[in-house]
Amino acid sequence: MNILAFESSCDETAVAVVRDGRTVLSDAILSQADMHALYGGVVPEIASRKHVEAVAGLTDKALADAGLTKKDIDAVAVTYAPGLIGAVLVGVSFAKSVAYALGVPLIPVHHIRGHIAANYLAFPELTPPFLALAISGGNTLIVDVRDYTDMEILGATRDDAAGECFDKAARVLGLPYPGGKPMDELARQSAGGEYDLPRAHVEGAELDMSFSGLKTAVVNLAHNAQQKGEPLDAAALARDFTKAVSDELVPRAMRAIEMTGRTKLVAAGGVAANSIIRADLEAACAAAGVKLYLPPLRWCGDNGAMIGAQGYYEYLAGRRAGLDLNAYATMDLGSTK
Ligand code: KG4
Repeated sequence: MNILAFESSCDETAVAVVRDGRTVLSDAILSQADMHALYGGVVPEIASRKHVEAVAGLTDKALADAGLTKKDIDAVAVTYAPGLIGAVLVGVSFAKSVAYALGVPLIPVHHIRGHIAANYLAFPELTPPFLALAISGGNTLIVDVRDYTDMEILGATRDDAAGECFDKAARVLGLPYPGGKPMDELARQSAGGEYDLPRAHVEGAELDMSFSGLKTAVVNLAHNAQQKGEPLDAAALARDFTKAVSDELVPRAMRAIEMTGRTKLVAAGGVAANSIIRADLEAACAAAGVKLYLPPLRWCGDNGAMIGAQGYYEYLAGRRAGLDLNAYATMDLGSTK
């Protein structure tokens, strides 16, 4: 079954063709990051306009790259939540028109379910149940994936997402947007151990996380140093910051493994590209005898193929949308609205 999949929830317009949920026939993507870098972060209205400009051309490219024509498409999948509302709406509107014109089913896909499903593309042997650590620019979740379309959030950030925290910390260190990758490169230049940064604890919810205190601590440190004219060891700060994020994520993921008895841990989302967090996850899983799935970097960030992968399993579960499908800025990933 060939699914034409659309992703437009943030600043990447992506269209892919995926066969039977596991084989990527094409994966066309256009990042707007350079444009938003001018403003130090995503400008929602610009994102929506750029999606409108890009989506039709990328659809032609995705079909051509796959060596297929429109007649070969069996269903259309689209990210309908969560994300920047105007941006998501572009993908949803376009996908609806394509599904209508081709006379094929329309499948709504939750963006974070898509990130988790990126692992099905990388690891053909991977099947649920497993535990997922979904860490992206807008979400930070520990998810019990009981089945392909049956999942429950066990822990979540109470405030900022891990990726957002990376982007803000990078900004005060003078690094370009999006800051995760340059922070990663900078952090690797130092062993750290110079800055004492906070680790949060959410009373009564041991799997929940918080990143706003850490973000504020880094912002204050940088501003204080600037105002006093004191030097800042940016590489050490990047390293200590990343360690603090990792200390928030990795022990909680391992605790969730203990609590659920799952034997597999799957990482997902843009922050899962971080080399230090990946190394910490590898060490923790090796010590606990847990099988770890770390997606290759190309499947960590937003892409259309992950929506095609999850779309296939949503299709098998009977999930369909009508032409009244709406876009949503927020949505629980357990929801089937
Ligand atoms: O999953 P993603 O592409 O978009 C969302 O669905 O949100 O994640 C983007 C986030 C950004 O905050 C970016 O800075 C972060 O992932 N990121 C990283 C790395 N590469 C991207 N964060 C830490 N280390 C990285 N190597």
